[in-house]
Amino acid sequence: MAFAVLRALSDGKFHSGEKIAQTLGCSRTSIWQAVHVIENDFAIQVFSVRGQGYRLAAPLDWLDVATIRSGLDTATADVWTVAVADEIDSTNTRLMTLAANGGPHGLVLAAERQSAGRGRLGRRWQARIGDCLMFSILWRFDRGMAELAGLSLAVGLALARALRKLGAPVELKWPNDLLLQGRKLAGILIELSGDALGPAAVVIGIGLNVVAPADVDQPVAALTDCGLEVSRNELLAALLNALQQVLTTFNRTGFAPFADEWMQLSAHQDEPVRLSFGPDESIDGMARGVAENGALLVDTPAGRQVFHVGEVSLRRLA
Ligand code: BTN
Repeated sequence: MAFAVLRALSDGKFHSGEKIAQTLGCSRTSIWQAVHVIENDFAIQVFSVRGQGYRLAAPLDWLDVATIRSGLDTATADVWTVAVADEIDSTNTRLMTLAANGGPHGLVLAAERQSAGRGRLGRRWQARIGDCLMFSILWRFDRGMAELAGLSLAVGLALARALRKLGAPVELKWPNDLLLQGRKLAGILIELSGDALGPAAVVIGIGLNVVAPADVDQPVAALTDCGLEVSRNELLAALLNALQQVLTTFNRTGFAPFADEWMQLSAHQDEPVRLSFGPDESIDGMARGVAENGALLVDTPAGRQVFHVGEVSLRRLA
């Protein structure tokens, strides 16, 4: 019911509780309860004015399969099967289940809300409805898992290409974050399904902050921070177009042909960085780019070291 009421309010104008109740075929009390859920569980402010009804602070832009499809490149649109869920535990979790049960190559699942969204290194990924583009794709590679090193960097590069084309000057942080104005704009969670030797099925989950909450100083970035106002449907189509190109090439060549472009967009090239391997273990050095398999090269007091994508996190040293 909360989603139905939120949809009824999504133009940002006043709507009377009575009219919404009539349209949805329910009582005014149910509408009132739904507004309560929208405010408390979804953290979306609803203005309520006697005699006028309810309204949201700003219009909401919903994900829509037909609109997403209309932005896909015609030559490659057939690759994608696009689905949208209002609410789900995690789009990655759902696609991992589907991957193990014959889900099709090119399946895309986007969600308005995740109750158990997951990030790298066991972290959570949480976002308010409408603020973030959250989706996962299922991609089946001819290569085995062992040959997928560098995939997360290639995915980051595909997103960066699309976002820069739209006008957002994003940079890449090894292994697979996107930064805007030095703050995290998007994260990528890649999970593998299947056995190590056979063709690999990969679930690529992406969370990208689109709208910054008003009047909140946030530690992360959103596209609106650089003045880019783009609908999440248009954005998803643009990202899928770029991903299709990069993933198809990657299936043939691996990461090597992307390494130079990745380094040009790297936020930390030739800068001092700290690599952490848990709470108590870290190594400091100068970031010197990436190898052809996506490994990070760092000059440390002990000489040049090579770090592989895994349970490592990186930050710039002040
Ligand atoms: C990270 O930076 O730690 C990765 C974040 C990935 C979040 C996305 S949101 C869509 C997909 N579903 C999930 O549960 N996680 C990814």
